[in-house]
Amino acid sequence: EQKKRIDRLYEEGMLERNGFLRLICERDEPSAAYLSEKARLRQAEHFGKNVYLRGLIEFSNICASNCLYCGIRRDNKKAVRYRLTEEEILDCCRAGYAFGFRTFVLQSGEDPWWSDEKVCALIRRIRKEYSDCAITLSIGEKTKESYRKYFEAGADRYLLRHETASPKLYRKLHPLEQTLENRIRCLCDLKDIGYQIGAGMMLEAPGQTVEDLVEDLFFLKKLQPDMIGIGPFIPHSDTPLSGRKAGGVELTLFMLSVLRLMFPKVLLPATTALGTVDPRGREKGILAGANVIMPNLSPQAVRGKYLLYDNKICTGDEPEKCSHCMELRMKSIGYEISGTRGDAPGWIRRV
Ligand code: 5AD
Ligand code: FES
Repeated sequence: EQKKRIDRLYEEGMLERNGFLRLICERDEPSAAYLSEKARLRQAEHFGKNVYLRGLIEFSNICASNCLYCGIRRDNKKAVRYRLTEEEILDCCRAGYAFGFRTFVLQSGEDPWWSDEKVCALIRRIRKEYSDCAITLSIGEKTKESYRKYFEAGADRYLLRHETASPKLYRKLHPLEQTLENRIRCLCDLKDIGYQIGAGMMLEAPGQTVEDLVEDLFFLKKLQPDMIGIGPFIPHSDTPLSGRKAGGVELTLFMLSVLRLMFPKVLLPATTALGTVDPRGREKGILAGANVIMPNLSPQAVRGKYLLYDNKICTGDEPEKCSHCMELRMKSIGYEISGTRGDAPGWIRRV
């Protein structure tokens, strides 16, 4: 039965609701192995043994939002806040460029100090210095006008996970002022403007059911994002969800394979959260169908402060250590790091 479902997912890229439900509920070691084998076939077709690198620059952990799961939420008074200067961010890019990064992901909390003008000025400077690099933003929910300004300043991609497509679960994980409707509005605006967009969800967040996950799959099918970031929920001790159970590596790997079969060409990172719940999580993620890794380029002095969850990896390491380490890790599983921007296949670069 499982084998039949997987074969059908491989051929058609889709199952009906009940098929997904049973595929996920009835997963076991043999079916996960078979699924991941199929996912690797699809991955090889479109990407060979290439893995794309993104240099993650966490440039501010100041956040006006209050997501219940997140360690840098507004109400966490224990978080030690920081904000990098434009110069410091450019230094990160310089170091990253020298290590071979051709995509910079600028991520922050929803920090009001970073006005549209400041964000645009930053993008313009990076764009001018690194015309061969992709600039990805991950700075949260904004108005369509703001998104348009960043795009015109030279940003190419935007990451904004939907977190969960279930309105009920979304409500449980966020304060009242944050709505799923607005998240979706943002994703649609971003896509409409012309960004390559990244959505995605946390797995095994408190209260999440398999039905919720299937909801995510249908949501993604409709949205057709260029990138999908998924990873296990990991509790942070200074949040309302402290003490809740962390998600495991196993479901994330299974879902990565499902996503690879549903979206053969999608950019699929093996995330830091996956590397946090299992020391070889990122390698396992690539072997399950992922094709992107996002090593941290943030300066060592602030790494230990951008803590969305407990026990985050690489917080003590120098940036060069992570790039070297990732190269070795990928080699150890027979993959190699691509020196390109790593755009979504078929993506036409605007001029
Ligand atoms: N555990 C796992 N992932 C988390 N994120 C935020 N907090 C946590 C947590 N406690 C993820 C969210 C967010 C991304 C930047 O990090 O999905 O979109
Ligand atoms: Fe940071 Fe390996 S990726 S030490």
